[in-house]
Amino acid sequence: MPTYTSLQTEDPAIYEALVGEMKRQTEGVEMIASENYVSPAVLECMGTVFNNKYSEGYPGKRYYAGQEFTDAVENLAIERAKQLFDAAHANVQPHAGAPANVAMYFALLEPGDTVMGMDLSHGGHLTHGHPVTYLTKIFKFIRYKMKDIETGEIDYDEMRQVALKEKPKMILAGFSAYPRELNYAKMKAIADEVGAVTVADMAHIAGLIAGKVLRNPFHDGFDVITTTTHKTLRGPRGGMILTREAELGKKIDKSVFPGFQGGPIMQMVAAKAVAFGEALKPEFRQYAKQVVVNSKHLAAYLMVKGVKLVTNGTDNHLMLIDCVKSWNLGGNEIETLFDRIGITLNKNMIANDTRKPMDPSGVRLGTPAITTRGMKEKEMEKLADFMLTAVASRADETALLKLHEEVKTFCRKFPVPGITT
Ligand SMILES: Cc1ncc(COP(=O)(O)O)c(C=O)c1O
Repeated sequence: MPTYTSLQTEDPAIYEALVGEMKRQTEGVEMIASENYVSPAVLECMGTVFNNKYSEGYPGKRYYAGQEFTDAVENLAIERAKQLFDAAHANVQPHAGAPANVAMYFALLEPGDTVMGMDLSHGGHLTHGHPVTYLTKIFKFIRYKMKDIETGEIDYDEMRQVALKEKPKMILAGFSAYPRELNYAKMKAIADEVGAVTVADMAHIAGLIAGKVLRNPFHDGFDVITTTTHKTLRGPRGGMILTREAELGKKIDKSVFPGFQGGPIMQMVAAKAVAFGEALKPEFRQYAKQVVVNSKHLAAYLMVKGVKLVTNGTDNHLMLIDCVKSWNLGGNEIETLFDRIGITLNKNMIANDTRKPMDPSGVRLGTPAITTRGMKEKEMEKLADFMLTAVASRADETALLKLHEEVKTFCRKFPVPGITT
């Protein structure tokens, strides 16, 4: 474990903030569905001298000399990523998920082309065409939705009708707040009818696909996968683009660099390689399986206790609580209340929400981080009980303080990788 002695001497203000954050992560329960704890090896890698190297280009074809070790590192990251996801090509240079998506759009589309993606209020991501992004100035986005929000099933018939009419150039699967599995085969069939390229943004579920608990979109013929390397995949913050066939990879590479980005962030590429190596191990499969077991168990337990979940359950690592239907409270109030007792999650719009994004009807929560800490089904029930007690005693300041202490005591049994206290 690094001791951070240089940082402490050089910059006490940042050191203090780091110590505070380590304490917060250790004493609190992280249930934000997109967060996780990386291993000490991944953490170490991010703080290495790979930071100092400029490596514009790709292994064997760089614009700067001195690439003996960076080439080795990037090649390892690429080979491991290909193996993990059955891909023919991997670009491991995108700095994050959003830049990966931008590079992917520009690789595959012309300005003015139409993209069909999941409706944002039904779980899609900002980069799938939210009006606040610049992407909507360049491409036209059309939507598909759930047919029935009680089951979460996508309306594939309507999707097909709209696709036949609008002729999208791309059909985009993927989400950041959808608790069910998508039917990639059906999407691919619709895309083939209208001649659209198929892309899955699997940022949220990459670790579950790598761990073979969710379906790999490539196995249903999808052309491209974009992803973050953090979240369920449990790597450093970063992005990646994969293709099923090698030929398309050339377009992707040109789009990432020089089309959109400059030099790769080499310590992150190295950390991606380490994380992918970890994800190839049997222990990671076990982890991914437990993430979903925990998620389903928590969802079922909450529902038995009268909590209303959007789609009435989950197939993956996340769920959405309808706070209005459950407790006649807003998502914002619940986020703040749970934060006070040391449980961190986020407010979230739910399908057909009538409230505003900064005060929506729901909260989103997930199990990737708490599963990394070693929590299992029994702990899911304990966490649900903490949350339900907080709601029941929300007007009682003393009870909330006591609950916060109980959460801290509970957390002590589950160390955070990379943090020694
Ligand atoms: C589906 C999806 N795509 C892309 C992103 C963007 O990733 P980043 O925050 O790394 O840019 C996210 C992040 O939440 C996401 O959920």
